[in-house]
Amino acid sequence: MSLEKFSYDNRTVKWFAYAATFWGLIGMLAGLWIALALAYPPMNLGYAPTTFGRLRPVHTNAVVFAFVGNGIFMGVYYSLQRLCKARMFSDLLSKLHFWGWQAIIAGGALTLLLGYTTGKEYAELEWPFDIAITVVWLIFGANMLGTILRRREMHLYVAIWFYIGTWVAIAMLHIVNSFELPISLFKSYSWYAGVQDALVQWWYGHNAVAFFLTTPYLGLMYYFIPKAANRPVYSYRWSIIHFWALIFIYIWAGPHHLLYTALPEWAQSLGTVFSIMLIAPSWGGMLNGLLTLRGAWDRVREDAILKFFVVALTCYGMATFEGPMLALKNVNAV
Ligand code: HEM
Repeated sequence: MSLEKFSYDNRTVKWFAYAATFWGLIGMLAGLWIALALAYPPMNLGYAPTTFGRLRPVHTNAVVFAFVGNGIFMGVYYSLQRLCKARMFSDLLSKLHFWGWQAIIAGGALTLLLGYTTGKEYAELEWPFDIAITVVWLIFGANMLGTILRRREMHLYVAIWFYIGTWVAIAMLHIVNSFELPISLFKSYSWYAGVQDALVQWWYGHNAVAFFLTTPYLGLMYYFIPKAANRPVYSYRWSIIHFWALIFIYIWAGPHHLLYTALPEWAQSLGTVFSIMLIAPSWGGMLNGLLTLRGAWDRVREDAILKFFVVALTCYGMATFEGPMLALKNVNAV
């Protein structure tokens, strides 16, 4: 029997890491600029592309989709290969994914600076970009699912469930919220009108936080914390309940962005109820991460990586307490 040989693709992982660093710098510089402009309006320079209104979406898109996004891909490409004991399905798809994503970011930033926008928060990019995002997301999905199908390790570790959940949810959210009628190359109108448009938009907007900023990183948490601590995850059964509870509850919380609007009362209350329920899976996940360090806390004193994880988990706990509180109508009114 011949010995089977294969190697992981670490180059793409590094590229995503460099890209995350690069766009993080640009995105946070834009954030700094608009923060200063809030205090000192002449920073607008009397020139449209450098006004707060144009630079704010450049900041949010750059930090969310470019900085955090490239970070997700870096972590997924690194961990998925190791969890599947397989190289990424296709080097060509990896390249198309990487360069396609960077092209969308660069083109998106440019058009936002030039004033082209749909006006929908976190979905500002105009319709040609929506199509490009769909294509690149499909490429990412094909590469990920191909790797999973070709895996040498039969068990699908919980991190992979989070990656698949992320991919499915973002595809659905992006496509449904991006239905629009183009009237020119860089101008379109939403398919939906009035309060329906608002509801679809905030179903998308809230779940962009849920399925772009949260679920992929929870998957990475389940891979990297046990690795860094050199211990098994505290409760594997708990992690599976965490996954299903989180994705089921998160998807209904969007209407909390529309409290005290024309949205029917019952839909607003539904958003509030699901937001309160979200504390359970959010804190369940946080505790599963923290308890993984049981018996290894002495190492946290020395290990900088573990220190960062502990701070990240506790901050996640605080943020996921703050969110449900803000979703209460009486608190939100203030
Ligand atoms: C140097 C670091 C940063 C600075 C100076 C900064 C500054 C700002 C400013 C001034 C705003 C606009 C606030 C307003 O409209 O009143 C903003 C909004 C925002 N920033 Fe940042 N930011 C930074 C880093 C980040 C990072 C790392 C993220 C996420 C990964 C982020 C995500 C956001 C989001 C999502 C909004 C929109 C919030 C909303 O509409 O409610 N920022 N930031």
